[in-house]
Amino acid sequence: MQKTKLLIIDNEKQTAEFFKQAFFRECLVSNAINLISGLSCLDREEFDLLLFNLCMTEAEGLKALKLIRNNHPDLPVIVLVAGHVSEADVEALKQDALEYITKPLNIEQVNKVFQTLLMSNLTRKSNKNHSYQKTGEKQKIITINSEMINELEILHKVANTDVSVLIEGESGTGKELVALALHDKSERKDKSFLSINCAAIPENLMEAELFGYEKGAFTGAYAKREGFFELANQGTFFLDEIGELPFHLQGKLLRVLEEKKITRIGGSKKIPVDVRTIFATNKNLWKEIKKGNFREDLYFRLAVVYITLPPMRKRPEDIDLLVKYFLNYFSMKYNKPIKKIEAEAMNWLLNYPWPGNVRELKNYIERIVILENDEIIHKKHLVKYFPSQMKTAKKPKLSYGSNKDELVTKEPAMVKSLKEEVANLEREMIIQALKRFNGNKTKAATNLKISRRSLQIKIKNLELNGFLL
Ligand SMILES: Nc1ncnc2c1ncn2[C@@H]1O[C@H](COP(=O)(O)OP(=O)(O)OP(=O)(O)O)[C@@H](O)[C@H]1O
Ligand SMILES: [Mg+2]
Repeated sequence: MQKTKLLIIDNEKQTAEFFKQAFFRECLVSNAINLISGLSCLDREEFDLLLFNLCMTEAEGLKALKLIRNNHPDLPVIVLVAGHVSEADVEALKQDALEYITKPLNIEQVNKVFQTLLMSNLTRKSNKNHSYQKTGEKQKIITINSEMINELEILHKVANTDVSVLIEGESGTGKELVALALHDKSERKDKSFLSINCAAIPENLMEAELFGYEKGAFTGAYAKREGFFELANQGTFFLDEIGELPFHLQGKLLRVLEEKKITRIGGSKKIPVDVRTIFATNKNLWKEIKKGNFREDLYFRLAVVYITLPPMRKRPEDIDLLVKYFLNYFSMKYNKPIKKIEAEAMNWLLNYPWPGNVRELKNYIERIVILENDEIIHKKHLVKYFPSQMKTAKKPKLSYGSNKDELVTKEPAMVKSLKEEVANLEREMIIQALKRFNGNKTKAATNLKISRRSLQIKIKNLELNGFLL
């Protein structure tokens, strides 16, 4: 019989010893002594059953549990509770239909809970289609922020339907990650997931990319070509930066969504397509509608359900978790000893506003893991590996005190003049806009809501010509 892979997340090592001894025939036991390494184990390997100690201090137990349940909705979980369990906790567990066992562990109680779960688990396992792993590494959505958790609940509710979803959020907040999760959690998960970035494709090619063309449809159309809608048939099609879709194509897209049929350019045949569409935008589409740049009818058609991802500055409680998660993740990936971060250094990270959101934080941690040999990360390392603006950022309002789990108020570590701060922010925003639009000044200026001419002057004054590739 294939052994059940059991993961125990508990800071007391005796728990794992107990299970190793009591269930050595049935189970392969892995042990993580804190939440971060637990999450990382779940990330790397597929487990059949999780035992989770609700009383760990790193994050509030129930919140952490919610996070795990969001990321691994199919994983059966048994909750371990030590000593006295409050009625509220028991209610929460029951509502979530979770099994729980109390400590000290008692073999009879454990056996009872365990056997039922193992039985249902085996059925689940034999029904599982393992070809799903073909897309490679699955990424997890890490958060303990309540607004994010609410949004992820919407994700779980609609994942297995065909409704169109609009994901809103600033750059780097995880829109693509959410789109992938919607696909991975749907029945279409074994079919293709295709994505297109409406801002990156030249306007004159967009229609052909979306709907394809027939041979001879235009000069250079030597053979017929299928568009993304046809290629994504039976799967999911993710249209990123939908706010950038040229106005004349918005009507065509609306028709395709209504009729579920496409017509290739130069063709007359209507070809049925069965595609689940997901859209993302970092623009406020309502504002675009008011400006006459986006069709209102299309907005209502594509935003049947919408998911709004808050920026990092509105969920500072996630920074600590994400930093530790990425340190762990990249240390494993690059086969390095796992780095620890010192409290003062974490304090800096907590107070940086992360304008590039999770992407910026992730890239930064990756850079440190690859380049830094020291195992403990201090503030000096942060400065060394941070792009210039961090060196002049940020006045801690929150900071870690001597007790690392306690947030206290402190005076700013370094104060720069307002002028300097504004210049840094301006510089960063311009660089981001130029990068995003591949150096196209007109688009970057529109995005920054300034004239092309003032952008040109700022580029000159801030010596940013290097970004105009
Ligand atoms: N909550 C999260 N937990 C873990 N990783 C995350 C989270 N949010 C984002 N990431 C990671 O951050 C990176 C950026 O996320 P993603 O590409 O989904 O952002 P985006 O909103 O689509 O950005 P853009 O608008 O620039 O396309 C990705 O590598 C993603 O895996
Ligand atoms: Mg994206």
